[in-house]
Amino acid sequence: MSRIAYVNGRYVPHLDAAVHIEDRGYQFADGVYEVIAVHAGALVDEDGHLDRLARSLKALHMAWPMARGPLRVIMRQVIRRNRIDSGYLYMQVTRGVARRNHPFPSGVRSALVMTARHAPPFDAAAAGRGVDVITVPDLRWARRDIKSTALLPNVLARQQAVEAGAYEAWMVDGDGLVTEGTASNAWIVTADGTLVTRHVDTAILEGITRRAVADLAAAQGLRMVERPFTVTEAKAAAEAFVTGTTSLVKPVVRIDGTDVGDGRPGPLTTRLLAWYGEHMAGQGSAV
Ligand code: PDD
Repeated sequence: MSRIAYVNGRYVPHLDAAVHIEDRGYQFADGVYEVIAVHAGALVDEDGHLDRLARSLKALHMAWPMARGPLRVIMRQVIRRNRIDSGYLYMQVTRGVARRNHPFPSGVRSALVMTARHAPPFDAAAAGRGVDVITVPDLRWARRDIKSTALLPNVLARQQAVEAGAYEAWMVDGDGLVTEGTASNAWIVTADGTLVTRHVDTAILEGITRRAVADLAAAQGLRMVERPFTVTEAKAAAEAFVTGTTSLVKPVVRIDGTDVGDGRPGPLTTRLLAWYGEHMAGQGSAV
């Protein structure tokens, strides 16, 4: 079956989907995006993603391409037309098409693109396999809370991870503190079983999965502290993991080649993944 994309009001074959060369997303990375998981035909944490889209758009003084209601209809159409039961919906909003000039153009409509793709259904055993991370300097701008399409530092860091045989790169700020992964949030578990992840401010993206996992941990009565941690503390931690739409809750078993704990997925991480699987399964009605 051929894939269908949504591009500025039209559903088009994926192969023919294109935007104008003067789209500001293309020329200035003047755009924002969301990646939403589809599990058993339902969008996972849809409201959380749309709320974050609202924050990103507001921070960049960018107009919504349309109201939320019609946007939700198109999201469902894209999933339906691509027959996605398990996978991801990608949505990107840019400031639109205008003659290249740095200031915001006037009288230009925001541009909206959506695509969807299949992914294997949730499998706790596969999802729970431990991975390596490397650490790299965080080269990004100072507003990492905005889910901007300006992802070049993330791309370079992730490529470095791939070349090192690692799953993810943890970015480290000028004070030696871990900010987050290139497409995930970073967590550790201390010796006394406390979950630690960096607090939310402009230094990191507030992950929707991070929030869901924090809520699950609270509901289970786990201790959690939101604070930064160093690479040294992470290497000596009892457990480590990352959270994200495409990573779920992924155990980290090595950091820069050093085993975390006994070098195997930690028990708390494995339980959090199981709870997160239940969370995904309880997403209301299918689209
Ligand atoms: N990235 N931090 C960064 C820098 C991210 O890009 C992402 C997600 C996250 C986790 O956020 P969430 O739990 O809402 O997915 C944290 C998406 C998946 C991507 O760029 O593909």
